[in-house]
Amino acid sequence: MPDYAHAVELLRAGELVAFPTETVYGLGADAANPQAVSRIFAIKNRPADHPLIVHLPDANAFSPWVRSIPSAARALAEAFWPGPLTLVLPRAPNVPDVVTGGQETVALRVPAHQVALKLLRAFARSGGGCGGLCGIAAPSANRFGHVSPTRAEHVREEFGDAIPLVIDGGPCPVGIESTIVDLSRGEGFAPRILRLGALPPERIEALLGTRVELPKASQKSEAPRTPLTAVKASRLPEVCEKLTAEGKKIGVLVFSPIDAELRAQARLRLPDDPEAYARALYDALHTLDAAGCDAILAESVPDDPRWRTVADRLRDQETDQVSGIRCQESDR
Ligand code: TXA
Ligand code: MG
Repeated sequence: MPDYAHAVELLRAGELVAFPTETVYGLGADAANPQAVSRIFAIKNRPADHPLIVHLPDANAFSPWVRSIPSAARALAEAFWPGPLTLVLPRAPNVPDVVTGGQETVALRVPAHQVALKLLRAFARSGGGCGGLCGIAAPSANRFGHVSPTRAEHVREEFGDAIPLVIDGGPCPVGIESTIVDLSRGEGFAPRILRLGALPPERIEALLGTRVELPKASQKSEAPRTPLTAVKASRLPEVCEKLTAEGKKIGVLVFSPIDAELRAQARLRLPDDPEAYARALYDALHTLDAAGCDAILAESVPDDPRWRTVADRLRDQETDQVSGIRCQESDR
């Protein structure tokens, strides 16, 4: 049983605490304490203009953080919180700039994980926060540009003793980050998805009865250190063969039953269901990163809305560094 009292003590003293959520592990600080939040940026090596998500114990806790609550925000919070949905709303004036990256908006979510919720509630009950603002600011608990952690071990491997407490809640049940929806543009504008995530846009559209704007191709953000390229299943055997013949150590990540046929140093087969695949993806990338390969080849996922978030994450991870494979394969 996690020592919540100790975790709360650390947070209230301005220290960092890593904790599990249903999506990925977060690296938390008292969101009302600018010095504490600055530590997150320092330890992650994160640029100051990348704002953080504030985690709340329940939907009632969100009014102090925002200037106004659009009706769509209320409806989404009611339907999907606790859950893998982050709402971007106009910020209240006293929200620390370091949390919002100086922007006029703030990102909020209530995570659906018992450990996270118990921590958030214990923090609130202890009188944590300041000036009516009570929440835990937490990005994914990885260094900037690295793969998000879905197990406590991933966090410890990444940061060692640099974080005073990592609460171990086992593997994250969802395994891929929350969907971020921007509602800050006001009632006249369509909700805009800033990051695809675990909650499908179709569910948001169905609830609100409006179309939502999907993100433009996302920029690369968090990737394994080993270059990753997506390759169609039909081409995988020959690409593996070619790169292995060149003396490269290849790690493959597939969901079709073809792994045994592939010439590779390390092979991982994930489930062929998109949700189960997503749950296992980051752990697989951590494993392949640790296997000392020169390149990771991931089987291209189906061009189907159910696979949209996974495809987005694989694209995010993708690099052009694998000696010309992409140009030759042109497989997407
Ligand atoms: O599932 C998740 O969302 C996890 C867990 C720990 O809650 N958190 C997470 O945080 O993925 P992070 O910091 O790795 O990604 C948060 C994203 C960043 O891309 C950031 O730019 C965006 O949220 N974001 C935060 N505040 C924003 C704001 N006010 N406006 C637009 N984007 C914002
Ligand atoms: Mg992240």
